[in-house]
Amino acid sequence: MNEIRYHRRTYTMGPTPIQKLERLSEALGGPSIWIKRDDLLGLTAGGNKTRKLEYLVSDAIRQGADTLITCGAVQSNHCRLTLAAAVREGLRCQLVLSKPELGEHDPLASGNHLLFHLMGVEKIELVPADADLQVAMENLSQAAEKEGRKPYIIPLGGSNQIGSLGYMACADEIEQQAMADGTPFDFVVTGTGSGGTQAGLVAGFLARQSNTKVIGINVSGTREGKETQVRDLLYRTAALTGLQGKIPDDAVRCDDQYVGAGYAIPTEEMVEAVKLVARTEGILLDPVYTGKAMAGLIGKIRKGELTREDRVLFLHTGGTPALYTAPQLFLSHQ
Ligand SMILES: Cc1ncc(COP(=O)(O)O)c(C=O)c1O
Repeated sequence: MNEIRYHRRTYTMGPTPIQKLERLSEALGGPSIWIKRDDLLGLTAGGNKTRKLEYLVSDAIRQGADTLITCGAVQSNHCRLTLAAAVREGLRCQLVLSKPELGEHDPLASGNHLLFHLMGVEKIELVPADADLQVAMENLSQAAEKEGRKPYIIPLGGSNQIGSLGYMACADEIEQQAMADGTPFDFVVTGTGSGGTQAGLVAGFLARQSNTKVIGINVSGTREGKETQVRDLLYRTAALTGLQGKIPDDAVRCDDQYVGAGYAIPTEEMVEAVKLVARTEGILLDPVYTGKAMAGLIGKIRKGELTREDRVLFLHTGGTPALYTAPQLFLSHQ
C-alpha cells in the first residue's frame, strides 16, 4: 500500500487559465508564447503562494495551530497571502518583515503593506535587512507559546517540501491542460526567489515523465547559489513524494542575468518588459518578480536562446500589488 498522503485546503476553484499571447509573440518576432495566469489564483489578489499555502496551512491545521508566523520583505506577496489564508481559516497571523537594503521603509506605503493592515495582521516585527529571519520568527513563536497559543512557522516564501507540493500539483495541471489543448510546452519560464515554485514544477514534470523543461529567472542571487538551493529543495520534495527514478543533472536551470543590482532593485529591462506586456496584452506584471522574469524571457528570445519553433509557457506568479508602490517607474507616455 502507498503510505504517502497529501493533505490540502482548496483556495482556488478549478485550474488557472492558459492564454496565448499572440501580440507579444508577434512584437518579439519570437516563439509561441502562452501565459499561465497564477495571478488569478484564490486568496487576496492571487499569486503563486496560494498554491503552496494550500498544503502548508493544511499541515498547520492538522497540527492544531491557531497562529501562522512567517517572514518576508516589506512588500512581501507571501506575507500578504499567508495572512489572507489565516483570515480565511480563522487563524491569527504574525509577520517578520525585513527592511529594504536601500532607502527607508514608508509606514504609509501602499501595495502589500496596505493589505497587511487592511486584513488585520496581529503583529508586524520590522527587522534590519541583514537580520536572521528564522531567529526572529522563532522568538515570536516562543512568545506566542508562552501565552498558551499554538504557533506554526511557515518558512520564507513558503519554500519547503510541503509548500513545493503546490507546484508539483501545478505541473500536473499544466500537463492536463496541454493534453486537452494539444499544446505540450517545451519550456516553462518562471521567476525564482526562494525556489519552491521552480523545485515543485521540476518535480511535477519529472513525476509525469514530461519533456517540458523549467527555466528559472533569478530575482536575486547568483546562478550557482540558486541552482544549489532549488536542487536541494527538489531532492527534499522528491523524498517526500516518493518520486521514483534519477533526477537528471541538468534538471535545475537558473539564469542570473536579469537580477540587476539586486532583489527588488528596478532594471531598465524590467520596466520595458512590464510596459510591453501591458501594452500588447493588457496584462499587469510586477516590478520585483514577474517583470524581471519576463525581461529574462525577452532577453533569451533576443539572444536566440529561444527560437521561433519553441513553445514557451510563462508562469505569471502574481505580485501585482507591488506595481502600485512604484508609479515613478511607469508614469510616462513612452
Ligand atoms: C510574485 C512572485 N513571483 C515569484 C516568486 C518567487 O517564487 P519562489 O519564492 O517560489 O521562488 C515570488 C516569491 O515571493 C512572488 O511573490
